[in-house]
Amino acid sequence: MLILGIESSCDDTAAAVVEDGVKILSNVISSQNEFHQKYGGIVPEIASRKHVELILYVIDEALKKAGITLDDPEAIAVTYKPGLVGSLLVGLSAAKAIAYARRKPLIGVNHIEAHAYANFMEHPDLEVPHLDLTVSGGHTLLVYIKSPTEHEVLGGTLDDAVGEAYDKIAKFLNLGFPGGPIIDRLAKSGDPKAIDFPRPLLNSGDYNFSFSGLKTAVTYFVREAKAQGKEIREEDLLASFQQAAVDVLVAKLLKASEEKQVSTVTLSGGVAANSLLRKTLSEKGRELGLKVVYPSLALCTDNAAIIAGLGYHLFKKGVRSGLDLSAKANLEF
Ligand code: KG4
Ligand code: ZN
Repeated sequence: MLILGIESSCDDTAAAVVEDGVKILSNVISSQNEFHQKYGGIVPEIASRKHVELILYVIDEALKKAGITLDDPEAIAVTYKPGLVGSLLVGLSAAKAIAYARRKPLIGVNHIEAHAYANFMEHPDLEVPHLDLTVSGGHTLLVYIKSPTEHEVLGGTLDDAVGEAYDKIAKFLNLGFPGGPIIDRLAKSGDPKAIDFPRPLLNSGDYNFSFSGLKTAVTYFVREAKAQGKEIREEDLLASFQQAAVDVLVAKLLKASEEKQVSTVTLSGGVAANSLLRKTLSEKGRELGLKVVYPSLALCTDNAAIIAGLGYHLFKKGVRSGLDLSAKANLEF
């Protein structure tokens, strides 16, 4: 069964065709990074306008690459939350127009659930229940996953998402956008023990996160060093920041895995591409006998294949959205 997936929740315009929830026939992504780069972050109005310019070409390309026409998909799956409302509305309007014109079912997909689904897509034998840590530019969520469409949120960020902290620190240091991959690369040649940054909420006894204070600690450290005329090695600063963030993420995920008695943990979302996070969790997993699973880099960051993939399971479950489906900025599980 073919599903056409459409994704426009943030700054990537994406469309994909997926068969039976797992086989990717096409996965087209048009990145807007170059348009947001000079602002050091995503400008929502620019993102919406670019989506409007790109969406039809991206959908067309996805159909062509899959060798199909608009008549072939069984249903149209589209991200409707969470995200930038102006951005979401573009993909949603395109999906509704196709569904209406071709008399196909419309299926609204939760972007965060789709990130976690990436692991089911690439590991069809993935054990349930398991725990997933969804780490992206907008969210840091610890989720107990019972099936591709059933889950329980154990905790989330109280302020900045971890990807947001990466992006804001990179902006502060004029390193470029998005900051995550840049910091990941630079930190490789730094000393993670050089600066002892705080590990926020490490021992809070719950599964919530907070990265705003860590980001502020990094910026204060830089300002103070500058005021005192001290040289800081940027790689050491970044490696120390990254170590603090990864320590908290890994510790909370492992604590939850013990409490929930699961034998598999997964990573998902853009920050799941982070090399230190992957390496640290894999090492801990080996020590503790836990299976650690994460998606390939292409399925970590925003794409429409995960939307079409999860759309298939929602379709099979009988989920159908009306043409009055509206975009939602927040998660509201
Ligand atoms: O999932 P995603 O593509 O979009 C959202 O749903 O937010 O995640 C984007 C986030 C950005 O904050 C980006 O800096 C971060 O993922 N990111 C990384 C890496 N690659 C992307 N963060 C740390 N290390 C990376 N290698
Ligand atoms: Zn995302």
